[in-house]
Amino acid sequence: MRIYRAVDYNDMSRKAANILSAQVILKPNCVLGLATGSSSLGVYRQLVNWYEKGDIDFSEVVTINLDEYAGLEKDDPNSYYRFMKENFWDHVNIKRGNTHIPDGTMAFSEMECRRYDQLIARCGGIDMQLLGLGRNGHIGFNEPGAAFDKDTHLVKLSGSTIKANMRFFGSLEEVPSRAYTMGIRSIMQARGILVIANGVDKAEILKAAFFGPVTPLVPASVLQLHNNVTLVGDEEAMSLI
Ligand code: GLP
Repeated sequence: MRIYRAVDYNDMSRKAANILSAQVILKPNCVLGLATGSSSLGVYRQLVNWYEKGDIDFSEVVTINLDEYAGLEKDDPNSYYRFMKENFWDHVNIKRGNTHIPDGTMAFSEMECRRYDQLIARCGGIDMQLLGLGRNGHIGFNEPGAAFDKDTHLVKLSGSTIKANMRFFGSLEEVPSRAYTMGIRSIMQARGILVIANGVDKAEILKAAFFGPVTPLVPASVLQLHNNVTLVGDEEAMSLI
């Protein structure tokens, strides 16, 4: 595993965006696995900035997002579809048909999960997967206790995740209780993984995930078994390492 220490959030975002843009330059038609959440916002901002300067071209890139809340319409202000559209897709020259995210409104969840797995396979798998780290160690929405051998599935969110994500919604009750997520197996099949973490509230989980035992109780700890992981964390998140 390669570890890059960044001084702050901006530095972390820049370093991570550099790694993603290197991937796009080396393989213009690469498949990027994308994440949502506050950790990734700065990365998208930086990529958009380089795109505007003419330094990076997304015209052949394919993106596959990790997860989406179940039950939210695409246009809901809190859907991950909307997050991606507003923070990334609408600002670069990516083809809309090349952007993928689970459909949170699908009534037949099993069908949606299999569609998503087949889509990942049809795209030839993921070249580089961007990952944030949940405060309880979740990756995507694979909560503590999730089996390592799952592909895309519908999960019931833990109380702590609902609480952590409440900051984006009006109240606890408005946070969806379920979400679609790529499983741990889907994530581990990516050829490269880029983890970003910032802020002091990620310090303990970062240490547990990368230097503690590999256990389903800390889903991100499975990444220790992947042979191409890069971690970029800021000083605060790295303070216990
Ligand atoms: C969310 C998302 C994850 C994200 C993580 C961290 O619940 N499902 O994909 O990486 O939690 O979020 P943040 O970056 O806002 O701390």
